[in-house]
Amino acid sequence: MTSGDEMHPLLEVKDLQALLPTRRGIVKAVDKVSLVLNPGRVLGIVGESGCGKSMLAKAIMGLLPARSIVPTESIVNFQGQNLVRMKKTHKRHIIGREIAMIFQDPMTSLNPVMKVGRQISEVLCHHLKVSKQTAHRRAIALLDLVGIPMANRRADQYPHQLSGGLRQRVAIAIALACGPKLLIADEPTTALDVTVQAAILDLLASLQQEKQMAMILITHDLGVVAGRTDEAAVMYAGKIVEHAATNELFKQMRMPYTHALMAAIPRLVNRPHTRLLAINGQPPDMVDLPPGCRFASRCWKKQPLCIESEPALKRINGRGHRFACWYPLESAENP
Ligand SMILES: Nc1ncnc2c1ncn2[C@@H]1O[C@H](COP(=O)(O)OP(=O)(O)O)[C@@H](O)[C@H]1O
Ligand SMILES: [Mg+2]
Repeated sequence: MTSGDEMHPLLEVKDLQALLPTRRGIVKAVDKVSLVLNPGRVLGIVGESGCGKSMLAKAIMGLLPARSIVPTESIVNFQGQNLVRMKKTHKRHIIGREIAMIFQDPMTSLNPVMKVGRQISEVLCHHLKVSKQTAHRRAIALLDLVGIPMANRRADQYPHQLSGGLRQRVAIAIALACGPKLLIADEPTTALDVTVQAAILDLLASLQQEKQMAMILITHDLGVVAGRTDEAAVMYAGKIVEHAATNELFKQMRMPYTHALMAAIPRLVNRPHTRLLAINGQPPDMVDLPPGCRFASRCWKKQPLCIESEPALKRINGRGHRFACWYPLESAENP
């Protein structure tokens, strides 16, 4: 459909807001998020549960719950075209084809009453208008590509006949069917056995490299981000609070919240039976946000200014490290 334009980044999100009306008031699930992603790059998005990671992904895809509000100032440029303002008929050619998504629970994207091979071939027929025979052949090749043994036989099975790990591989095959330029993976391993989590992340990494896709990898675990992403954005209460190249982030984190997430990673060096550090306190009520820094009530470095005034997300160096904090961590305070 749309041809790549060298003038534009692949994805450029600017001041994106997703407002969800509830009985208690409006939840600012995504609050003025801006980010840029270039072809072939992997961006990790990390933060505690409820901080808006899934809503950000859904806002980019245009898959927010009914009645959600995306203000018209919000911009989601994909190859230079704003998806927020694009006609549905045009967007249908992009979503599921050029931008694909995999979810935490593969059953979200799989149809329980359709054979898995057919679920893939239908996507191919719909988007690429290939014949049924071609689609069937390609579906089996895709099942093989995502590491499903005896793909020929598995294609004739229903989702419930497969393990959780195999189901997630099928979901990945569906997402990859049309060769997307951007893949959004929303906690793709959270619902799986620990034993298969690494295998699925390895599979995603090798497919991403082979196809040179851009990928957004969403997780609540900073440990997943390490070594698997080029850059990482930390979200808190609907906002990005720190964003940097992944190695830079781990070397020199500036936002105390990033440090707190880091401290919550299990480590091999921990003595057996030591409890994981949980971050003290609760994230703020997303319907009634405080005027200052949203992390202030839980922050050990807070000063009166933090409670009065919200720090902006500022760039600190030419390498694009951004953070929002009045009293950032110094080198000596890094873990
Ligand atoms: N359908 C919905 N209606 C109203 N609020 C919602 C809905 N889904 C999620 N939320 C709220 O939006 C915020 C962000 O949620 P979400 O993006 O799912 O967080 P995460 O993926 O980081 O765990 C949370 O405060 C959550 O309670
Ligand atoms: Mg989520």
